[in-house]
Amino acid sequence: MSSTHPQRITGEPAGPAAPPSRFALPGIVRFYDCLTEASSFLDDVLRGLSAPQKVLPPKHFYDAQGSQLFEEICELPEYYPTRTEMAIMREHLPEIVQMLGPDMELIELGSGASVKTRLLIEQGRPALYVPIEIADSALRGASAKLAERFPWLHICAVRADFSRPLRMPSFTGVPVKLKVVYFPGSTIGNFTPEDAVALLHNVRGLAGTGGRLLIGVDLKKDRRTLESAYDDAAGVTARFNLNLLARINRELGGDFQLKRFRHKAFYDERLGRVEMHLESVYSQFVHVAGQRFDFKPGETIHTENSCKYTVPEFQALARRAGFEPQQVWTDARNLFSVHLMIAV
Ligand code: TRP
Repeated sequence: MSSTHPQRITGEPAGPAAPPSRFALPGIVRFYDCLTEASSFLDDVLRGLSAPQKVLPPKHFYDAQGSQLFEEICELPEYYPTRTEMAIMREHLPEIVQMLGPDMELIELGSGASVKTRLLIEQGRPALYVPIEIADSALRGASAKLAERFPWLHICAVRADFSRPLRMPSFTGVPVKLKVVYFPGSTIGNFTPEDAVALLHNVRGLAGTGGRLLIGVDLKKDRRTLESAYDDAAGVTARFNLNLLARINRELGGDFQLKRFRHKAFYDERLGRVEMHLESVYSQFVHVAGQRFDFKPGETIHTENSCKYTVPEFQALARRAGFEPQQVWTDARNLFSVHLMIAV
């Protein structure tokens, strides 16, 4: 929907930043910084390294270098999810777009480089696009590119941590018929099932009753396919995982020696998830912000889970969060699924 008249978009960001009160034109990106103190990197690292099983929340992977490395992961021959999800979207886009209808507000969680979204924007012609992303560099870069490519599009970019309850700015001035939350990349799998239900419950709030959820979910499959997707031959995923330690060194004055840790990924069939860890190769200690942390040889920092579901398992999980499945698309090899759900 293009307009020659400037339309007023107002928003009240929940974060400390004041709303810039100016007219927004299509093609001009408005940014809202809704990152709160509570998502502090330092607190998460000190708390996580003090736990009996050391743990670091995966959202901190995504600094500028981590976001870049993740884009490389998406291109790897072993990493099937991105290209499979893209193929499913491409094949079923006419049907998807038809089911969503015109003039939607398209809200994307963890938008990253917004590559998959381009198709949806091109064909779905949303009235408003709201990417939500924790990585500032990825959010700004992707939004600027989209604004250039789709000059008719209103973009309100929100920097926020969607793993916590979201207090979104309210956007008015662009007439919207339907809110659609797009959550691709099987990012939902990076939450435990319990946390996934809580997150989808928040998403349900964002979409409102009658709103839609379009979500990409990786499927259960054989161990070999799964484990090589998270431990590629070129070692990109290893670099991505280790970048978390490099980031702690850069930003928090840590003294991790990256050569003394190794990337580890394995499928736990009972829990239905790939776990990623950083394993200490030696007995050693490191410092972060003046605190000392000891490692035994073989001790790990748990950095990520990637939960896998069957289609019925995921539908049951979404129902617990107030969504009713409308349609599901998969690829011929049954690697990946894209679900359309309605908030009831
Ligand atoms: N959502 C992605 C997934 O679970 C994230 C991811 C892919 C990832 N590869 C990774 C996270 C490697 C950490 C390390 O598939």
